[in-house]
Amino acid sequence: MSRISALFLFVFIFSALLLGEPMFVGNIVSHQPFPNRVEFRLDNGKFTVYVLSGNVLRLRYTNSESFSESPSYAVIAEMPDKSDFVLKEEPNRFVLSTGELIVHIAKKPCRISIFDKEMNLLNADDASFGVCFDNDEVRCYKKRLDGENFYGLGEKSDGLRKTGNEYTLWNTDFPGYTERTDELYVSIPFFYGVRNGKAYGIFFDNTYRSHFNFGASNNRFYSFGADHGEMDYYFIYGPEMKRVLSSYSELTGKAEMPPKWAFGYQQCRWSYYPESTVRALADNFRKKQIPCDVIYLDIHYMDGYRVFTWDKNRFPDPPKLIADLKMNGFKVIPIIDPGVKADTTYFAAKEGIAKDLFVKYPDGELYQGEVWPSWAFFPDFTKKETRDWWGEKLSALMKDGVAGFWNDMNEPAVWGSHFPDIVRFNGNGRGADHKKIHNVYALEMAKATRTGLRRFSDQRHFILTRAGFSGIQRYSAVWTGDNLSNEDHLRYACVMSQNLGLNGVPLVGADVGGFMGEASQRLYVRWMQLGAFTPLFRQHSAYGTKAKEPWAFGEDVENTVREIINLRYRILPYLYSEFHQATQTGLPLMRSMFLEFQNDPECWNDQAQFQFMVGENLLVAPVLSESDNAKRLYLPEGRWYEMNTGKIYPGNQWLTVEAPLERVPFFLKSGGILPMQEVQQFVGEKPVETTILTIFPSAKSSYSLYEDDGNSYEYEIGRYSVVNFTIEEKSDALAIVVKKEQTGFTPDRKNYRFRIISDKKPIKVFVGAKELPTIKPSETSAKIRECWTFLSNEKMIEVRTPDAGNFTMTIRY
Ligand code: GLC
Repeated sequence: MSRISALFLFVFIFSALLLGEPMFVGNIVSHQPFPNRVEFRLDNGKFTVYVLSGNVLRLRYTNSESFSESPSYAVIAEMPDKSDFVLKEEPNRFVLSTGELIVHIAKKPCRISIFDKEMNLLNADDASFGVCFDNDEVRCYKKRLDGENFYGLGEKSDGLRKTGNEYTLWNTDFPGYTERTDELYVSIPFFYGVRNGKAYGIFFDNTYRSHFNFGASNNRFYSFGADHGEMDYYFIYGPEMKRVLSSYSELTGKAEMPPKWAFGYQQCRWSYYPESTVRALADNFRKKQIPCDVIYLDIHYMDGYRVFTWDKNRFPDPPKLIADLKMNGFKVIPIIDPGVKADTTYFAAKEGIAKDLFVKYPDGELYQGEVWPSWAFFPDFTKKETRDWWGEKLSALMKDGVAGFWNDMNEPAVWGSHFPDIVRFNGNGRGADHKKIHNVYALEMAKATRTGLRRFSDQRHFILTRAGFSGIQRYSAVWTGDNLSNEDHLRYACVMSQNLGLNGVPLVGADVGGFMGEASQRLYVRWMQLGAFTPLFRQHSAYGTKAKEPWAFGEDVENTVREIINLRYRILPYLYSEFHQATQTGLPLMRSMFLEFQNDPECWNDQAQFQFMVGENLLVAPVLSESDNAKRLYLPEGRWYEMNTGKIYPGNQWLTVEAPLERVPFFLKSGGILPMQEVQQFVGEKPVETTILTIFPSAKSSYSLYEDDGNSYEYEIGRYSVVNFTIEEKSDALAIVVKKEQTGFTPDRKNYRFRIISDKKPIKVFVGAKELPTIKPSETSAKIRECWTFLSNEKMIEVRTPDAGNFTMTIRY
């Protein structure tokens, strides 16, 4: 840039700032193409459009002389060195084509319009406003297109549809939030625009307090922006929502496979102590034969709430306790908050001060905020040395035998809720204030935890966090904070977990039963039923509340809840296998109806948010009210087999099904397969020798069952198993082709038990060329490994056959 234009730019920016008026980007002054991007000089700044792929663009604006060099906290994808696009200059605009998208970049003023290949308008800047710098704020104004709806922003307690509302993202500890509470624990500046069944996504990569207006109080525009930083956003085209989500997960990362036991039932309370209480709790689960895998230790296990310590009176010998519990199939997860008690005789405080690991005021004084341990120092997780140190401290607890960590209060929360903005952070060597770091503090803490765990152990550990930002899925599961034991929160739990999944965080759940307040028996049962199908199934309750363990509500509830938890363990092979998709494609386990059935208008009906898909094959319609004994729900195309009753319903209809208290309606899709196992008291209690596959045949369909050792990272180097089942139904026969596709891991399986939904009684059943004997239903015994039987009441053919590698099973009618 010449000196004169630099001077002009300076004068313009300076005068706009002086007047305090919004400054728009102005006209394009010049442009320069590069192999992966085009850079534009504007009247009031700079604009660069990167082409990441045919459907992903990055649009970046600044009113400074140069773009920030600070790397993104959320995005882990590198910009490609070279990408495929064609740029043409016309008198009034540039036209950039990626093969999938056509972008018009108007010159006077600089405005963007994005079209698909057929020249359907997908997204356009507001003609007058576009991108603007309003003092420190950055904003992007987009045209409201007729019929466009908005979804996204992760952890929000109102409904899935965001149209007509305004939202702020600022990680906030808000116990007992309502559906009108805006700022919550997790910030995900990613949303979808959906119009005429076609979806795009916008990820606004800015960590400052951000604002989204999806047409609130105006019918002209929608907008997004932040209090500071750059206008740096990614436009991701689908038109499938699933593709948008997958591309977003390419940018911000995918979840790891959690340990398999993390899908088991998890028991928590603030707090289980002393040791004898924890032992009694564990014994009770086993005595009562209620499966459970995890016990959490809340803040009372520590010595005066000092992280990395044990209260030696309450827990005199933690390694022994944890080892004994382990023998009994329990894993122990302690809470770890970021605040380090400001007690200079305490080793963590001493070390942190000596190594300069805590955040400070600009004058060098250590910041102290008040939390559970009273006044505390706050580790600067945006500094590599702090993250490494944190990992080392955690490793001591790992030596005691803990199986993971539960990160809380990491918004960061302090009493008074106002972490001072003036506090300085390292910002990975670039320096930053609290305004910039606040929303990513938990992300960086989770990064420290995950990298520490991976450094010190070759086993998978489980991390759970309350706060987070885009990308948190790389390191941790998320729970939805301090909810209440009431019906409203039961509904929020259903919707918030889906919404986090829609925004790239697949391992999610709410405090089952409600954290604060007392649950009625019916509410508790209904919540357990929802929990059994959410990715994370953890019951938790606050200090001072009545007990909420499965046996706390009397024998009837205990029996009902045992069956619900048993069901969770039966479907575990399915949950685990489906979750694997999240690690590959970013698609969540718990899916909103419209994510799975985008072209079905009924799935966009707001009522459809109170049901969901688990993976591709199961539709779950939990009862979300205390008094109801029925559920109104929508079944999309196909036929649906109600797992509780064996009834088959045609799809494309809203209907009401009976749901007495002990029953949660859930359905297997036609063409679907549901792999199951026998109940276990904990994951790994016994080798799973029999895989039970419930199959609902429909023309031709297939399913891939993913399995691995459930504990190590060996799956990352191919040590996993995938078995593919292809089912083909003809008028006189049904064929099931079983094919091992990946054999890097050998499951314990010895037998298959196929349960095929059919009202036709077979004549013969073959495995390969060998005919299987038939037996009467009354003769079935676990010992018989090869046989078939027709259960006429259940309308089910059951075939038992050993796991003989690759084989074809043929059922002749
Ligand atoms: C916070 C957490 C809650 C925990 C409590 C005590 O309120 O959200 O889950 O039990 O602190 O640690």
